[in-house]
Amino acid sequence: MTKVLYITAHPHDDTQSYSMAVGKAFIDTYKQVHPDHEVIHLDLYKEYIPEIDVDVFSGWGKLRSGQSFEQLSAEEKAKVGRMNELCDQFVSADKYVFVTPMWNFSFPPVLKAYIDAVAVAGKTFKYTEQGPVGLLTDKKALHIQARGGFYSEGPAAQMEMGHRYLSVIMQFFGVPSFEGLFVEGHAAMPEKAEEIKANAIARAKELAHTF
Ligand SMILES: Cc1cc2nc3c(=O)[nH]c(=O)nc-3n(C[C@H](O)[C@H](O)[C@H](O)COP(=O)(O)O)c2cc1C
Repeated sequence: MTKVLYITAHPHDDTQSYSMAVGKAFIDTYKQVHPDHEVIHLDLYKEYIPEIDVDVFSGWGKLRSGQSFEQLSAEEKAKVGRMNELCDQFVSADKYVFVTPMWNFSFPPVLKAYIDAVAVAGKTFKYTEQGPVGLLTDKKALHIQARGGFYSEGPAAQMEMGHRYLSVIMQFFGVPSFEGLFVEGHAAMPEKAEEIKANAIARAKELAHTF
């Protein structure tokens, strides 16, 4: 069965967030089009997403030096165990939908912590003599993001770091298809805010038929 991970990195829901409203339009339509697919909502603001810290480093160090998982401290087990679980879930999915707001030209930091959990040699990529090679070559991904200004094109495009970063990570993991759906410019053009949102919702519903 096709498994879709709907990964949201936003503290608000669709009533307050443009990104989440467009994400909801996409995923609700996707579920109607594909009632047989399994859609898992991973809300990064509600789930436990450990950051790489001193416990994670010491836990990894112990495992590398041959100790078993059971020999880790309670903190190391909780953090390393959860990161392994997140990575295994990521690898087991077929499609990824990321929903984020643009914050300071990028996305909220919890998504970076999540990426740090799933970027694991031997699971999402591997090292070879020719350099690193992605292992997720049969997946596809979409990034939905609202931005106050315009970044898809024009003078600010070079300042955009969030979608470009995700794009690099998806390439690094070998994901062959990565699209972006942006709700842009409502702060720059407040009189057009509703129109911008409605257009993005319409595009999201269309895309849900082909993704
Ligand atoms: C902390 C913060 C940082 C932001 N940084 C940017 C930015 O760098 N560029 C921009 O165009 N808009 C920025 N905005 C505006 C948001 O991108 C915009 O309001 C967008 O709609 C947020 O997504 P949301 O509607 O899903 O919350 C920022 C907003 C917040 C709260």
